[in-house]
Amino acid sequence: MKIHHSSNSLKKSLLHFTNECKSVGFVPTMGALHKGHLSLVEQASNENDCVVVSIFVNPTQFNNPQDLEKYPRTLENDIALLKAIKGKIFIFSPKVSDLYPKNIQSTDYDYSGIENEMEGKHRKGHFNGVGTVLNILFRTVKPTKAYFGEKDFQQLQIVKKLVEIEKLPISIIGCSIIREKNGLAMSSRNKRLTEEQFQEASLIHKTLSEVQEKFNALSISELYDLVENRFSNQPNLDLEYFEIANEKTLKSVSVKRKNVTYRAFIAVFSGGIRLIDNIALN
Ligand code: PAJ
Repeated sequence: MKIHHSSNSLKKSLLHFTNECKSVGFVPTMGALHKGHLSLVEQASNENDCVVVSIFVNPTQFNNPQDLEKYPRTLENDIALLKAIKGKIFIFSPKVSDLYPKNIQSTDYDYSGIENEMEGKHRKGHFNGVGTVLNILFRTVKPTKAYFGEKDFQQLQIVKKLVEIEKLPISIIGCSIIREKNGLAMSSRNKRLTEEQFQEASLIHKTLSEVQEKFNALSISELYDLVENRFSNQPNLDLEYFEIANEKTLKSVSVKRKNVTYRAFIAVFSGGIRLIDNIALN
């Protein structure tokens, strides 16, 4: 397994292995890898001749400088975890100046409105940053398929839109959410939680599961009240948003209609740590 720290070195290596790597699976990450990321890499490895895993904490997608600064960086450990996975894996861990040689700036994308919902509303410019870095990475790696977790469901929809806008011949594959034993969705940010915060955060998935279970029996406004109620009883968790949305448009809804697929989305702060999750409802 070779670790590439520059785009040129990765491109050269991929060119060298053209015959061996007829199909290339790509898993973009920001590192601090956990079983959620590794499940994507395993799927990519099962479905392709070769896999590229990028590890890059992308400055243009952070709207909060403290979040960027405190984002965990554990490259040595990440490499060790990837070495344990079967298959031909290339690790790409570039410097900021490699992906952004001129300005550390994002391109403005029009993702047909899905960028203005939920995460887009609460993290201004976030999806422009995600689109910008992925466009650079996709053009460097030229993958056959790229793998994204449903943990960031809105991001997954954004990426599908991005490849359409940029006319990139890449299949975008959505992968299921991997959870801790207590139900908390695995996330690099979980590393910053204390043991107590980690236990408390199990309320997030527990509440989403309750919403899923009661989706047919309760109205949308009763479901919103239920969630407000559960979180008002847990003062250490601060509910940023809870929304029941149309899975396609990501617009929140106030009544249920036939033949529409719904999903519940949530963002919660535990101390200064922001946690997101979502669940399919029907
Ligand atoms: P990061 O948060 O490191 O996540 C990398 C990929 O892992 C994303 O597709 C994310 O949805 C997936 N993932 C994270 N936790 C998961 C879990 N518990 N189960 C399944 N998949 C999970 O998302 C990003 O990085 C960045 O925005 C990136 C796409 C790399 C662009 O910078």
